Amino acid sequence: MIAPENGKPTILIVEDEAGPRNALKMILRPFFHLYAVDNAHAALRLLKEQPVDLVTLDLKLPDRPGVELLREIKLEHEDMEVIIITGYGSLKSALDGLRYGAAGYLLKPFNVTELVNLIKQILAKKQRLDQLRNYLKQPVLGRTAVPDLADAWRRMAHQYAEASSVPHMDARFGRYSHVVGFLSDVLEATSRELLIHSSRVSFYATRMGGHLRLTDHERTSLMLGALLHDIGMVGIAGHTPGQADPIGTPLPEGDKRHTELGVLMLAPFELPAETSQIIAYHHELFDGSGYPEGLQGEGIPFPARIVSIAQGFDQMMAASSPQTTGSVDEALKQLRAQAGTRFDPALIEPLARIMSDGTASFPPFAPAPSSAILPET
Ligand SMILES: [Fe+2]
Repeated sequence: MIAPENGKPTILIVEDEAGPRNALKMILRPFFHLYAVDNAHAALRLLKEQPVDLVTLDLKLPDRPGVELLREIKLEHEDMEVIIITGYGSLKSALDGLRYGAAGYLLKPFNVTELVNLIKQILAKKQRLDQLRNYLKQPVLGRTAVPDLADAWRRMAHQYAEASSVPHMDARFGRYSHVVGFLSDVLEATSRELLIHSSRVSFYATRMGGHLRLTDHERTSLMLGALLHDIGMVGIAGHTPGQADPIGTPLPEGDKRHTELGVLMLAPFELPAETSQIIAYHHELFDGSGYPEGLQGEGIPFPARIVSIAQGFDQMMAASSPQTTGSVDEALKQLRAQAGTRFDPALIEPLARIMSDGTASFPPFAPAPSSAILPET
């Protein structure tokens, strides 16, 4: 929630060196209400006592590593937004920061306009997500009764569009870019890990779709279905809106109703039929032992079989290491061991090939805007 003081959002600057701290204060003062501290202990104490909307954090602090402070802030204030600003940046520290929930990363010396715009962009997004989190607390969103569920989602999308002065869009999805902007915010408002897992599955599935020479329509439907395959989890108890899940925590198997709920809640958005098939059948297993219908082999819609293997791969990668940088070879070995039982055996090698030819090297952890400000590699 944006703090009302002076009608401006409140920023806490955590920076141990006086020069950069004063520079940040000068840059940000016209736009924000400011606090500034020079160590982690003072930062945590201030956050307990004052409402703050966003923290700018130097990774090098006298009393503890900045990444450790970031973890502690996210633990105690899960909705707090944090931007890392450091002169000691590297891709690894950027990924560490994003992994532990930083909203963005900027290397010194930074561009002033870029910093101010980044903060404004992150705060606007925080407002959008806070609004959605309030809406997601409605009990109707966890029920399968029709027409209540579809109506609730139609109203929610309408209110979201009305409240967003700058609508969130994802241009990759063409005519569905507004709907995807809304629904990816819904995933993130539910759980950041749910959005990140969904984005990675969409990344793998879409690369597979290219390799399998699907048509443009089929690839768009696949990209959408893969991104939204677990959208039904949004309405299910246990996925608390706003709950911060550390990356690398395997998603719970979930309530089996999430496949049905997902299809019902997306009914108002007129997405392609193949997208609904993916949401409905991504837990069917090749040997017929899956749910909800126990479909078998080629009786399972083809795009749902692709998403099944893409999500299986992502879960194996996530489970193999708490840092989610597990071995691709190990994950592929596990997939091969389940060819014909859990997965379509014809789809294992296409996935292995895109992993080995470099078109699907491990994708970024976080969606924009963070990726836009990662250092060049
Ligand atoms: Fe699922």
